[in-house]
Amino acid sequence: MTAVTDNQVVLGIDIGGSGVKGAPVDTTTGQLTAERIRIDTPQPATPKAVTKVFADVAGHFAWRGPIGATMPGVVKQGVLLTAANIDKSWIDTDAAKLFGEATGCPVTVLNDADAAGIAEMHFGAGKGRRGVVVMITLGTGIGCAVFNDGVLLPNTELGHLEINGHDAESRASARVREEHDLSFRRWARRVDVYLDRIDALLWPDLIIIGGGVSRKAHKFFPYLSTRAELVAATLQNEAGIVGAAMMADGHP
Ligand code: BGC
Repeated sequence: MTAVTDNQVVLGIDIGGSGVKGAPVDTTTGQLTAERIRIDTPQPATPKAVTKVFADVAGHFAWRGPIGATMPGVVKQGVLLTAANIDKSWIDTDAAKLFGEATGCPVTVLNDADAAGIAEMHFGAGKGRRGVVVMITLGTGIGCAVFNDGVLLPNTELGHLEINGHDAESRASARVREEHDLSFRRWARRVDVYLDRIDALLWPDLIIIGGGVSRKAHKFFPYLSTRAELVAATLQNEAGIVGAAMMADGHP
């Protein structure tokens, strides 16, 4: 075992539609142990181009140890199986293998919303919460993570629930609000319909809203009427990094 794992410090790298962000994380406390770095996601975000940026992030920290990484799609055994908001050539690509070869480090890859959810459940808005907790990330797409008594059901894709004939994420993501210049009130009506559907299907005890827009919860929470208790995420743009590092360190 290296000194790095003894200290339980793991590099977390969060790969999103617009940025690739990384920092070493103390997985016992959830704290970043060095300043986060962010590099624009290359466009098109092909496996080759993203892998180069991934290696640059690891290189920035001269990293020699385990790495946890997030991807915006369904990930099983390191392989990306969907790619709604990233280059389609990722589908069936073994991301863990590619990143591992490029960095010489063991890499664990998981879904971005699952990672954010794990971090929130351990260190943020879901800390100590039992029962059914659903984390919804409103960003470029809509991601989700479902927990029962703190245990994750991986790769749920409720961002793609069909509502009135539309993919929910094409109506209620934060990107849609920005692109269509919707007021918070108008957009919140769409989010409300979406959350009602989640409520009707899963009956969560708590819904955590994440994504950058959760910083502005005061602007749209007043328009949401869900039955379940609703809270904003507290770790915000560090959640993916922290959750990825925790998974790579063997946390459930
Ligand atoms: C993808 C999910 C992802 C979410 C947030 C969705 O389009 O299907 O896997 O978690 O976007 O990035």
